[in-house]
Amino acid sequence: MQHIQSYIKEHKDRFLTELIDLLKIPSVSADPAYKDNVFQTADVIKDSLLKAGCDHVEICETEGFPIVYGEKIFDKSLPTILVYGHYDVQPADPVELWDSPPYEPVIKKTEIHPEGAIFARGACDDKGQMYMHVKAMELMTKTNQLPCNVKFMIEGEEEVGSVNLSKFVKANQEKLKNDVILISDTGMIAQDVPSITTGLRGLSYVEVEVTGPNRDLHSGLYGGAVANPINILTKMIASLHDENNRITIPGFYDKVEDLSDAERAEMAKAPFSLEDYKKSIGIDAVYGEKGYTTNERNSIRPTLDVNGIWGGYIGEGAKTVIASKAFAKISMRLVPNQEWEEITDLFKKYFENIAPAGVKVKVTPHHGGQGYVTPIDSIGYKAASKAYHDTFGKNPIPQRSGGSIPIVSLFEQELKSKTILMGFGLDSDAIHSPNEHFGVWNYFKGIETIPLFYKYFTELSK
Ligand code: BES
Ligand code: MN
Ligand code: MN
Repeated sequence: MQHIQSYIKEHKDRFLTELIDLLKIPSVSADPAYKDNVFQTADVIKDSLLKAGCDHVEICETEGFPIVYGEKIFDKSLPTILVYGHYDVQPADPVELWDSPPYEPVIKKTEIHPEGAIFARGACDDKGQMYMHVKAMELMTKTNQLPCNVKFMIEGEEEVGSVNLSKFVKANQEKLKNDVILISDTGMIAQDVPSITTGLRGLSYVEVEVTGPNRDLHSGLYGGAVANPINILTKMIASLHDENNRITIPGFYDKVEDLSDAERAEMAKAPFSLEDYKKSIGIDAVYGEKGYTTNERNSIRPTLDVNGIWGGYIGEGAKTVIASKAFAKISMRLVPNQEWEEITDLFKKYFENIAPAGVKVKVTPHHGGQGYVTPIDSIGYKAASKAYHDTFGKNPIPQRSGGSIPIVSLFEQELKSKTILMGFGLDSDAIHSPNEHFGVWNYFKGIETIPLFYKYFTELSK
C-alpha cells in the first residue's frame, strides 16, 4: 500500500502528462480521415507498454486497425491476468458543442470533480481508463511488486464493433491463455460509492431503408396518392413499442432472463436518486417499460432505440417534396440469453413484414454481440472487492450496466475465462458526448486499486 501511494505521488505529474499526450492524438476508428492517427496511437501504446516493463510487445496487424499485444511472463506456475482495453475513440461530433477542443485536453474543476477532470475525447472511454493499467504495470515492475504474469491486449476497433479482434482471439487462444481478464471500460455508481460491473448488455445494430417512388416527387402533385417513405418509416418505427413501452417484435422477449424478486430487491438497494437523475439530464419525467424501475430499464431489460433518422429535405427554408427514400439506424440492447443474431433476424423479418404495399424495405445488419453476466463469488470478483475495500474503505456494490462491450462474451466463449470489469468512470463523464471528461482523482484511484487486484488475485489463486 505504502509503496503504491508513494510511487504515485512521486510520478503524479508525469502520469498526467503522458495521458494528456495520448489524448491529443485523434484516434477515431469510425472515420477514415483519422486512419493515420489510429495507427500512430498503436505505436504510442506499444512504447508505453515497453517502458512500463513488458518483456515483449508487438503490434499485431489486422485487416483493420492493429492490436497491441504485450506481456511479462516470469513464472508459469503463477496466475496470468489478461488486461483488455481500447485505444480508439468515438468521433467528437458535434464539435461546436465542446467548450474546449476535443483533442486539446484541459483540466478543469467541476462540481463532481473538485480535484479537476481532464476534458478530451477518449479521456474516460477508454484511453484514460486503459492507461491506468499501463501506469499500474509500471508501478508494479518499478517497485518490484508484480505478483503474477500479465498480458495486455489493447485494440483499436472497439467503437466500431471489434470485428478483427474477434478473429484475432479465435486464432490466438494459446497466446491469450489467462486466468482472469481485467477491463476498465465501464463506470462506477458515484465517487464515494465504488462498484464492480457484473453485467453488460448485448447489442444488435441495424440500418433500415424504406423506398417509395423511384424519384423525389412534388408533394402537391403526388401528395396523398402515394406512400411517403418518411411517413411510413416513422409509423413503422412507432409501432415497434406498445402502450406499455414493450417491444412488439414477436419472439423478442422469449429468451429474456427474468430476475427473481429477491435479485430485484438486491438491485434496488444500490443508492440512486431519481430526482438527481432527472436533473442531471434535464428531463422532468422518466419514460420506459411499464413495471420496471429506471435502473432495471437501463440494465436488465432489453431496448429498441432509433439512433438516427433521415430523408427528404432538411436544408434552409421549405421545399415541397415527397422523398423517394427514408432511413434510420436502430440499436437494440439485449440482455443475457437473447442471441444477438437471432434478434437481428427477428427484427428483419418483422420489419419487412409490417411494411405496407407501396414501399420496399431493406434491413442491413451492422454489428452486434452478446450480453454478459458474471458471478460475484469468483476469485476474480473477490480479489476486486478486496482491492476496492482497501482504497475506498468500503465494499464495492455489484452493478449491472446498460452499456455493451460485445467482445467480453466472446472472451468467455473462446478463452474460457471470466472478466472482471473495474470501471472508474461516472455516468456524468459524458462518454460519447461533447465535453467527455475523466476525473483526475478517478485516474489515480484506478492506478492505486489495480495493483491490489493483482495482489489479491494471486493470493486467492493459491
Ligand atoms: N466503454 C463503452 C461501453 C460501456 C460504457 C459499458 C459504460 C458500460 C458502461 C464502449 O466503448 C462502448 O461504447 N460500447 C458500445 C458498443 C460498441 C459495439 C460500439 C456501446 O455500448 O454503445
Ligand atoms: Mn469503451
Ligand atoms: Mn465507447
